[in-house]
Amino acid sequence: MKYPHQPVLVHEVVKYLLHSPCGTFVDGTVGTGGHSLAVAKAMDEKGRLICLDRDPDAVNLSRERLAFLGKDITVIKANYSDLDTVLDELHIKALDGVLLDLGMSSQQLDNSGRGFSFTRDEILDMRMDPDDELTAYDLVNILPQQDLERILRDYGEEKRARLIARAIAAARSENPIKTSSQLARIIKSTFPPHADANKHPATRSFQALRIAINKELHNLETFLRKIPQLMAAGGRLVILSYHSLEDRIVKQTMANWEKGCECPPDFPRCVCGKVVLFRRLFKKGIRPGALEIKINPRARSAVLRAAERMLS
Ligand SMILES: C[S@@+](CC[C@H](N)C(=O)[O-])C[C@H]1O[C@@H](n2cnc3c(N)ncnc32)[C@H](O)[C@@H]1O
Repeated sequence: MKYPHQPVLVHEVVKYLLHSPCGTFVDGTVGTGGHSLAVAKAMDEKGRLICLDRDPDAVNLSRERLAFLGKDITVIKANYSDLDTVLDELHIKALDGVLLDLGMSSQQLDNSGRGFSFTRDEILDMRMDPDDELTAYDLVNILPQQDLERILRDYGEEKRARLIARAIAAARSENPIKTSSQLARIIKSTFPPHADANKHPATRSFQALRIAINKELHNLETFLRKIPQLMAAGGRLVILSYHSLEDRIVKQTMANWEKGCECPPDFPRCVCGKVVLFRRLFKKGIRPGALEIKINPRARSAVLRAAERMLS
Protein backbone atom coordinates (compact mmCIF):
# COMPACT_ATOMS: atom_id res chain seq x y z
CA MET A 1 0.00 0.00 0.00
CA LYS A 2 1.45 3.35 -1.01
CA TYR A 3 -0.10 5.32 1.87
CA PRO A 4 -0.43 2.72 4.62
CA HIS A 5 -1.47 5.09 7.41
CA GLN A 6 -5.22 5.23 8.01
CA PRO A 7 -6.19 8.60 9.50
CA VAL A 8 -8.25 8.48 12.69
CA LEU A 9 -11.59 10.26 13.34
CA VAL A 10 -11.37 12.07 9.98
CA HIS A 11 -14.97 13.25 9.96
CA GLU A 12 -14.63 14.77 13.45
CA VAL A 13 -11.27 16.38 12.65
CA VAL A 14 -12.73 18.21 9.63
CA LYS A 15 -15.91 19.14 11.50
CA TYR A 16 -14.08 20.76 14.43
CA LEU A 17 -11.12 22.22 12.54
CA LEU A 18 -12.93 24.10 9.79
CA HIS A 19 -15.36 26.63 11.18
CA SER A 20 -15.08 28.30 7.78
CA PRO A 21 -13.79 26.79 4.50
CA CYS A 22 -11.72 29.79 3.46
CA GLY A 23 -9.19 30.17 6.27
CA THR A 24 -5.51 29.42 6.71
CA PHE A 25 -4.96 26.03 8.29
CA VAL A 26 -1.97 24.06 9.57
CA ASP A 27 -1.57 20.30 9.75
CA GLY A 28 1.45 20.11 12.07
CA THR A 29 1.90 16.34 11.67
CA VAL A 30 1.02 15.62 8.04
CA GLY A 31 2.34 12.02 7.98
CA THR A 32 1.14 10.44 4.73
CA GLY A 33 -1.43 13.20 4.29
CA GLY A 34 -4.70 11.40 5.12
CA HIS A 35 -6.11 14.14 7.36
CA SER A 36 -4.71 16.87 5.14
CA LEU A 37 -6.42 15.36 2.12
CA ALA A 38 -9.80 15.55 3.88
CA VAL A 39 -9.13 19.08 5.17
CA ALA A 40 -8.00 20.30 1.73
CA LYS A 41 -11.10 18.83 0.08
CA ALA A 42 -13.29 20.70 2.57
CA MET A 43 -11.53 24.05 1.95
CA ASP A 44 -12.81 26.36 -0.77
CA GLU A 45 -10.59 28.07 -3.36
CA LYS A 46 -9.57 30.79 -0.85
CA GLY A 47 -8.46 28.24 1.75
CA ARG A 48 -4.77 27.68 2.42
CA LEU A 49 -3.16 24.64 4.05
CA ILE A 50 0.37 24.50 5.47
CA CYS A 51 1.57 20.97 6.24
CA LEU A 52 4.55 20.15 8.45
CA ASP A 53 6.37 16.98 9.38
CA ARG A 54 9.82 16.44 10.84
CA ASP A 55 10.23 13.21 8.86
CA PRO A 56 11.49 13.88 5.30
CA ASP A 57 9.83 10.67 4.01
CA ALA A 58 6.46 11.94 5.26
CA VAL A 59 7.09 15.30 3.57
CA ASN A 60 7.84 13.64 0.22
CA LEU A 61 4.92 11.20 0.40
CA SER A 62 2.32 13.77 1.40
CA ARG A 63 3.60 16.39 -1.05
CA GLU A 64 3.10 13.89 -3.85
CA ARG A 65 -0.28 12.77 -2.52
CA LEU A 66 -1.73 16.27 -2.10
CA ALA A 67 -0.40 17.84 -5.32
CA PHE A 68 -3.21 16.62 -7.61
CA LEU A 69 -5.88 18.52 -5.65
CA GLY A 70 -4.82 21.82 -7.20
CA LYS A 71 -5.42 23.63 -3.86
CA ASP A 72 -3.16 26.11 -2.08
CA ILE A 73 -1.06 23.60 -0.10
CA THR A 74 2.52 23.98 1.12
CA VAL A 75 4.38 20.99 2.62
CA ILE A 76 7.47 21.79 4.69
CA LYS A 77 9.95 19.71 6.70
CA ALA A 78 9.71 21.30 10.14
CA ASN A 79 9.06 20.53 13.77
CA TYR A 80 5.61 21.76 14.83
CA SER A 81 7.20 23.26 17.94
CA ASP A 82 8.84 25.77 15.53
CA LEU A 83 5.48 26.80 14.05
CA ASP A 84 6.06 30.47 14.98
CA THR A 85 9.25 30.57 12.87
CA VAL A 86 7.57 28.79 9.95
CA LEU A 87 4.72 31.32 9.97
CA ASP A 88 7.16 34.25 10.11
CA GLU A 89 8.96 32.90 7.06
CA LEU A 90 5.67 32.52 5.17
CA HIS A 91 4.48 36.00 6.34
CA ILE A 92 1.35 34.48 7.89
CA LYS A 93 -0.06 36.50 10.79
CA ALA A 94 -2.79 34.29 12.31
CA LEU A 95 -4.25 30.84 11.79
CA ASP A 96 -7.88 29.73 11.55
CA GLY A 97 -7.22 26.09 12.35
CA VAL A 98 -4.37 23.92 13.60
CA LEU A 99 -4.32 20.13 13.73
CA LEU A 100 -1.87 17.84 15.55
CA ASP A 101 -2.19 14.07 15.15
CA LEU A 102 0.47 13.00 17.61
CA GLY A 103 2.74 9.96 17.72
CA MET A 104 4.02 8.03 14.75
CA SER A 105 2.45 6.83 11.50
CA SER A 106 1.97 3.29 10.24
CA GLN A 107 4.41 4.25 7.50
CA GLN A 108 7.11 4.85 10.13
CA LEU A 109 6.18 1.75 12.10
CA ASP A 110 6.00 -0.66 9.17
CA ASN A 111 8.13 0.72 6.34
CA SER A 112 10.75 3.14 7.64
CA GLY A 113 13.35 0.52 8.60
CA ARG A 114 14.20 2.63 11.68
CA GLY A 115 13.41 0.13 14.42
CA PHE A 116 10.15 1.65 15.70
CA SER A 117 8.52 -1.79 15.88
CA PHE A 118 9.47 -4.67 18.18
CA THR A 119 8.03 -7.09 15.62
CA ARG A 120 10.75 -6.29 13.07
CA ASP A 121 14.45 -6.92 12.95
CA GLU A 122 15.73 -3.43 12.17
CA ILE A 123 18.57 -1.23 13.24
CA LEU A 124 17.78 0.61 16.51
CA ASP A 125 17.30 4.17 15.34
CA MET A 126 13.77 5.49 16.15
CA ARG A 127 14.50 9.06 15.00
CA MET A 128 11.58 10.69 13.22
CA ASP A 129 13.99 13.32 11.94
CA PRO A 130 17.20 11.70 10.66
CA ASP A 131 18.98 15.04 11.23
CA ASP A 132 18.63 14.61 15.02
CA GLU A 133 21.80 13.36 16.66
CA LEU A 134 20.70 10.86 19.27
CA THR A 135 19.42 7.40 18.22
CA ALA A 136 17.78 4.58 20.19
CA TYR A 137 21.08 2.69 19.80
CA ASP A 138 22.80 5.47 21.79
CA LEU A 139 20.21 5.45 24.57
CA VAL A 140 20.14 1.68 24.91
CA ASN A 141 23.90 1.16 24.77
CA ILE A 142 25.36 4.25 26.41
CA LEU A 143 22.89 5.74 28.90
CA PRO A 144 23.53 4.90 32.58
CA GLN A 145 21.22 2.17 33.86
CA GLN A 146 19.39 4.54 36.27
CA ASP A 147 18.61 7.01 33.47
CA LEU A 148 17.33 4.21 31.29
CA GLU A 149 15.11 3.05 34.15
CA ARG A 150 13.75 6.59 34.57
CA ILE A 151 12.90 6.87 30.85
CA LEU A 152 11.09 3.52 30.88
CA ARG A 153 9.12 4.53 33.97
CA ASP A 154 8.37 8.15 33.06
CA TYR A 155 7.60 7.78 29.35
CA GLY A 156 6.39 4.18 29.21
CA GLU A 157 4.67 4.01 32.61
CA GLU A 158 6.44 0.64 32.74
CA LYS A 159 6.14 -1.07 36.14
CA ARG A 160 9.09 -3.37 35.41
CA ALA A 161 11.38 -0.46 34.50
CA ARG A 162 14.08 -1.43 36.99
CA LEU A 163 14.18 -5.08 35.89
CA ILE A 164 14.26 -4.16 32.21
CA ALA A 165 17.00 -1.54 32.65
CA ARG A 166 19.04 -4.10 34.59
CA ALA A 167 18.58 -6.75 31.85
CA ILE A 168 19.60 -4.23 29.16
CA ALA A 169 22.71 -3.22 31.14
CA ALA A 170 23.69 -6.89 31.57
CA ALA A 171 23.17 -7.71 27.88
CA ARG A 172 25.11 -4.69 26.59
CA SER A 173 28.07 -5.48 28.86
CA GLU A 174 28.52 -8.62 26.70
CA ASN A 175 27.77 -7.14 23.26
CA PRO A 176 26.14 -3.96 21.92
CA ILE A 177 22.36 -4.22 21.37
CA LYS A 178 21.99 -3.41 17.71
CA THR A 179 18.48 -4.28 16.55
CA SER A 180 14.86 -3.87 17.55
CA SER A 181 14.26 -7.62 17.80
CA GLN A 182 17.37 -8.10 19.99
CA LEU A 183 16.05 -5.42 22.35
CA ALA A 184 12.52 -6.89 22.30
CA ARG A 185 13.92 -10.31 23.29
CA ILE A 186 15.85 -8.84 26.23
CA ILE A 187 12.74 -6.99 27.47
CA LYS A 188 10.57 -10.08 27.03
CA SER A 189 13.01 -12.14 29.11
CA THR A 190 12.13 -10.02 32.18
CA PHE A 191 8.42 -10.96 31.99
CA PRO A 192 6.80 -14.18 33.20
CA PRO A 193 6.14 -16.54 30.24
CA HIS A 194 2.38 -15.98 30.19
CA ALA A 195 2.19 -12.24 30.85
CA ASP A 196 -0.65 -10.26 29.19
CA ALA A 197 -1.26 -12.08 25.91
CA ASN A 198 -2.94 -9.00 24.35
CA LYS A 199 0.07 -6.73 24.69
CA HIS A 200 3.67 -7.48 23.68
CA PRO A 201 5.93 -7.03 26.75
CA ALA A 202 8.08 -4.54 24.81
CA THR A 203 5.18 -2.19 23.92
CA ARG A 204 5.70 0.27 26.78
CA SER A 205 9.50 0.25 26.59
CA PHE A 206 9.51 0.96 22.85
CA GLN A 207 7.03 3.80 23.39
CA ALA A 208 9.26 5.22 26.13
CA LEU A 209 12.41 5.14 24.01
CA ARG A 210 10.63 6.71 21.02
CA ILE A 211 9.24 9.54 23.18
CA ALA A 212 12.68 10.20 24.69
CA ILE A 213 14.58 10.12 21.36
CA ASN A 214 12.12 12.46 19.67
CA LYS A 215 11.52 14.72 22.71
CA GLU A 216 7.82 14.28 22.05
CA LEU A 217 6.43 15.72 25.30
CA HIS A 218 8.84 18.65 25.23
CA ASN A 219 7.75 19.51 21.66
CA LEU A 220 4.08 19.32 22.62
CA GLU A 221 4.56 21.59 25.64
CA THR A 222 6.56 24.12 23.61
CA PHE A 223 3.88 24.15 20.92
CA LEU A 224 1.07 24.66 23.47
CA ARG A 225 2.95 27.58 25.03
CA LYS A 226 3.24 29.32 21.66
CA ILE A 227 -0.11 28.52 20.02
CA PRO A 228 -2.32 31.20 21.69
CA GLN A 229 -0.21 33.90 19.99
CA LEU A 230 -0.49 32.24 16.57
CA MET A 231 -4.25 31.87 16.20
CA ALA A 232 -6.97 34.24 15.05
CA ALA A 233 -10.08 34.76 17.22
CA GLY A 234 -12.47 31.92 16.40
CA GLY A 235 -9.58 29.73 15.22
CA ARG A 236 -9.79 26.05 16.11
CA LEU A 237 -7.12 23.83 17.65
CA VAL A 238 -7.68 20.08 17.25
CA ILE A 239 -5.34 17.51 18.84
CA LEU A 240 -5.39 13.72 18.61
CA SER A 241 -3.35 11.94 21.32
CA TYR A 242 -2.56 8.25 21.64
CA HIS A 243 -1.39 7.78 25.21
CA SER A 244 -2.22 9.19 28.61
CA LEU A 245 1.00 11.22 28.98
CA GLU A 246 0.32 13.44 25.97
CA ASP A 247 -3.45 13.49 26.49
CA ARG A 248 -2.96 14.69 30.08
CA ILE A 249 -0.87 17.64 28.85
CA VAL A 250 -3.44 18.59 26.20
CA LYS A 251 -6.40 18.18 28.56
CA GLN A 252 -4.87 20.24 31.39
CA THR A 253 -3.65 22.99 29.08
CA MET A 254 -7.06 23.38 27.42
CA ALA A 255 -8.79 23.43 30.83
CA ASN A 256 -6.36 26.11 32.08
CA TRP A 257 -6.88 28.24 28.98
CA GLU A 258 -10.59 28.12 29.61
CA LYS A 259 -10.27 29.09 33.27
CA GLY A 260 -8.83 32.52 32.44
CA CYS A 261 -9.42 35.10 35.19
CA GLU A 262 -8.36 33.89 38.64
CA CYS A 263 -9.70 36.85 40.63
CA PRO A 264 -12.11 36.01 43.49
CA PRO A 265 -15.73 36.18 42.29
CA ASP A 266 -16.54 39.14 44.57
CA PHE A 267 -13.93 41.42 42.88
CA PRO A 268 -15.76 44.19 41.00
CA ARG A 269 -13.32 43.92 38.05
CA CYS A 270 -10.45 41.71 36.91
CA VAL A 271 -7.05 42.64 38.37
CA CYS A 272 -5.09 39.45 37.53
CA GLY A 273 -5.13 40.28 33.81
CA LYS A 274 -5.67 36.62 32.88
CA VAL A 275 -8.09 36.29 30.00
CA VAL A 276 -9.89 33.26 28.65
CA LEU A 277 -7.62 32.17 25.81
CA PHE A 278 -9.62 29.24 24.46
CA ARG A 279 -12.99 27.65 25.09
CA ARG A 280 -13.18 23.87 24.81
CA LEU A 281 -15.61 22.71 22.12
CA PHE A 282 -16.50 19.75 24.35
CA LYS A 283 -15.21 18.69 27.77
CA LYS A 284 -14.84 14.93 27.37
CA GLY A 285 -12.36 13.72 24.75
CA ILE A 286 -13.89 12.00 21.70
CA ARG A 287 -12.82 8.39 21.06
CA PRO A 288 -13.25 6.29 17.92
CA GLY A 289 -16.24 3.95 17.85
CA ALA A 290 -16.12 0.16 17.76
CA LEU A 291 -16.45 0.02 13.96
CA GLU A 292 -13.53 2.36 13.34
CA ILE A 293 -11.38 0.38 15.79
CA LYS A 294 -12.34 -2.86 14.05
CA ILE A 295 -11.29 -1.46 10.66
CA ASN A 296 -8.24 0.35 12.05
CA PRO A 297 -7.02 -1.25 15.34
CA ARG A 298 -4.34 1.44 15.74
CA ALA A 299 -7.16 3.93 16.40
CA ARG A 300 -8.07 2.21 19.67
CA SER A 301 -6.11 4.51 21.98
CA ALA A 302 -6.95 7.80 20.20
CA VAL A 303 -8.52 10.75 22.05
CA LEU A 304 -9.55 13.92 20.23
CA ARG A 305 -9.76 17.29 21.97
CA ALA A 306 -10.62 20.64 20.40
CA ALA A 307 -10.74 24.27 21.52
CA GLU A 308 -11.62 27.61 19.98
CA ARG A 309 -9.48 30.74 20.34
CA MET A 310 -11.37 33.55 22.07
CA LEU A 311 -11.12 37.28 21.42
CA SER A 312 -8.40 38.78 23.65
C1 LIG B 1 0.13 9.84 13.56
S1 LIG B 1 1.20 10.43 12.32
C2 LIG B 1 0.19 11.55 11.41
C3 LIG B 1 -0.62 10.89 10.37
C4 LIG B 1 -1.42 11.84 9.51
N1 LIG B 1 -2.41 12.54 10.26
C5 LIG B 1 -2.04 11.13 8.32
O1 LIG B 1 -3.26 11.25 8.14
O2 LIG B 1 -1.31 10.46 7.58
C6 LIG B 1 2.26 11.49 13.18
C7 LIG B 1 3.25 12.21 12.30
O3 LIG B 1 3.74 13.30 13.08
C8 LIG B 1 5.09 13.48 12.81
N2 LIG B 1 5.66 14.20 13.96
C9 LIG B 1 5.82 13.76 15.22
N3 LIG B 1 6.34 14.71 16.00
C10 LIG B 1 6.50 15.80 15.21
C11 LIG B 1 6.97 17.13 15.43
N4 LIG B 1 7.39 17.51 16.63
N5 LIG B 1 6.96 17.99 14.40
C12 LIG B 1 6.52 17.61 13.17
N6 LIG B 1 6.09 16.37 12.89
C13 LIG B 1 6.06 15.48 13.90
C14 LIG B 1 5.63 12.09 12.61
O4 LIG B 1 6.83 12.12 11.87
C15 LIG B 1 4.47 11.40 11.88
O5 LIG B 1 4.64 11.48 10.50
